[in-house]
Amino acid sequence: MSRPVGVALVGMGWWGKKILSVLGAAPIDIRVVRAVEPNLETARALCAEKGIPLTAEYADALADPEVEAVVLATPHAVHGAQIEAAVAARKHVFCEKPLALTKAGAEGAVRLCRDAGLVLGMGHERRWEPPIAELLAKTDAGELGRIHQIEANFSHDRFLALDRDNWRLKAEHAPAGGMTTTGIHLLDLSVRLLGPGESVWCVCEHLSSDLPQGDTVAAYIKFRGGGTSYVSASLANPFMSRFAVYGSKGWIDIRDKAHVEAPDGWIVTSAKAGGPITSTEIPPAEPVKDNLVSFARAVRGVEGYPITAEQLVNDIALLEAVFASARSGKIETVA
Ligand SMILES: NC(=O)c1ccc[n+]([C@@H]2O[C@H](COP(=O)([O-])OP(=O)(O)OC[C@H]3O[C@@H](n4cnc5c(N)ncnc54)[C@H](O)[C@@H]3O)[C@@H](O)[C@H]2O)c1
Repeated sequence: MSRPVGVALVGMGWWGKKILSVLGAAPIDIRVVRAVEPNLETARALCAEKGIPLTAEYADALADPEVEAVVLATPHAVHGAQIEAAVAARKHVFCEKPLALTKAGAEGAVRLCRDAGLVLGMGHERRWEPPIAELLAKTDAGELGRIHQIEANFSHDRFLALDRDNWRLKAEHAPAGGMTTTGIHLLDLSVRLLGPGESVWCVCEHLSSDLPQGDTVAAYIKFRGGGTSYVSASLANPFMSRFAVYGSKGWIDIRDKAHVEAPDGWIVTSAKAGGPITSTEIPPAEPVKDNLVSFARAVRGVEGYPITAEQLVNDIALLEAVFASARSGKIETVA
């Protein structure tokens, strides 16, 4: 690439800081040239140490000609307005998940970026985890045959320590337990493998905590093209991350050894029809960085960004149906 893509990192909380730490090691393709955080004191020391100008105002970043793209690591309900403002300022957008909380919101974001000729990246770094990337390549090549079922769980209990008025626990940002926190990654992988959802039954319960939006959520999804996915997430049991795909010619089960915040590798168990069950260890990688590098390369036109606009909308259409089913207790159709 001719020069690194200059980005403004917006929202310097847990994930903004994680992104800053991984981008420090990837200056060839992408470089943080500015940070935005309304709570200045929480980021001042870190930004000073890294030599990154910090401002409380998003508008300052949008007015900065060195900023070619914004990376939004902000509360869910503000993503839409921040994308709109970025596009109006002709900045590419990398948005942390979820892109939106309604299908209409996702369609709006996708349309704005597409019409302006801007790249829209998403914080679905699970696609860049080496064993997941290999699984996707194998399924694309037909090596697992027809995909029948997906079983996936992504849980952790770190939000038990949050103040109960934290935005992460509020209905307007995160209405169904951990579905917007971790489950959305599994919805995205399910849509990537099985296409648009058709219907969903979701159960969201308070089982062992006082987390206001529930601590344990499970969604059972039927896909339009056939196949089902069971996606579950707890905010009240110790870390667990598992993604398993079953097809007519074989199956693959991937377990993360640690949360993506500090990757520690994966354990992959698999079998092909007629063959033995094997288990292998995959060494650590940094998928959060690799996703952002891929985004930067798409901004420069070096390669296409692999998460399509259609998948982005299908992810959120499914998420919206999950919310509806969690509320109604009934099977809901995906719009
Ligand atoms: N991809 C992943 O694996 C992953 C992991 C964790 C979080 N996330 C996502 O990252 C985003 C942030 O989550 P978090 O856990 O870091 O939350 P957080 O609360 O720790 O950080 C959010 C930060 O945004 C700031 N903020 C609030 N309103 C803002 C605004 N209007 N403009 C700029 N900054 C604003 C807050 O002051 C806070 O510092 C969410 O979308 C979340 O889902 C992604």
